[in-house]
Amino acid sequence: MPHKPFKAVIPAAGLGTRFLPATKAMPKEMLPVVDKPAIQYVVEEAVDAGIQDVLIIIGRNKNNIANHFDSMPELESTLERKGDHERLAKVQHSSDLADIHLVRQGEPRGLGHAVWRAKGHVGDHPMAVLLGDDLIDERDPLLSTMLDQYDKHEAAVIALMEVDPEHIHMYGVASVEATDDPDVVRVTGLVEKPNREDAPSNLAIIGRYVLPPEVFEILERTEPGKGGEIQLTDALQELAADPARGVYGVIFRGRRYDTGDKLDYIKAIVQLAADRDDLGPDLRPWFKEFAATL
Ligand code: G1P
Repeated sequence: MPHKPFKAVIPAAGLGTRFLPATKAMPKEMLPVVDKPAIQYVVEEAVDAGIQDVLIIIGRNKNNIANHFDSMPELESTLERKGDHERLAKVQHSSDLADIHLVRQGEPRGLGHAVWRAKGHVGDHPMAVLLGDDLIDERDPLLSTMLDQYDKHEAAVIALMEVDPEHIHMYGVASVEATDDPDVVRVTGLVEKPNREDAPSNLAIIGRYVLPPEVFEILERTEPGKGGEIQLTDALQELAADPARGVYGVIFRGRRYDTGDKLDYIKAIVQLAADRDDLGPDLRPWFKEFAATL
């Protein structure tokens, strides 16, 4: 029987401590990446893959996110009066983009708990979970491939990327076996943020998951794991260990921008701006000149 349409879930309830004081009164998902808040790139990614129904799991300072995806009559009529149609279109784009729903995480008890909070809205639909710290370049589609793999295997699909062993302790890590598709693996085990010596591979989970609704029932009884938090990785390990259900991994080899820490955030902005038609032609020569002074 075909499954119900996919819904998207974007956890955005973290404290953003790495970006304080910028995130004192604003969620880190609202930090601008060039001229759009990080979370808008993620919503656009879901929409580009054909998902209109987007649930954002919010924490404190939720109003900023809600307002960003809402219409702004005052601002819109001012821009209209000024005849600034280009900016007006940009303002309206974020409110017309998708059907945005919000739910509060309440107590921050980890990523697994945040995803579990989506249960009431997602129900028995499969869902794509997109983490806002990882931005995937729109020219290198990943989510649509993952949705296709979900349909093909009728099983959970996660995005994996080879990372430097030096950074492996920052990720969920998969042990895998090959399939007949070089870009798809079968996940045989998952461990959250292992030490470098204990990592089963250099394949890290980057923040994209396509999950069956059964994951809610697993999350409900998943005990706190690494860092005392309820880990999504631990719930997926249970699916991976069950041959009747299983987990597949799509190996991503495209452009990914990490906005999770300050240095990577700065790099992401420079890379994205350098590629843009409106900013790149001026930024690139300036950057070369600047780099020569370093
Ligand atoms: C989360 C997940 C981790 C995953 C990572 C990807 O960790 O728990 O398994 O590899 O996202 O960005 P976080 O970065 O939220 O600590």
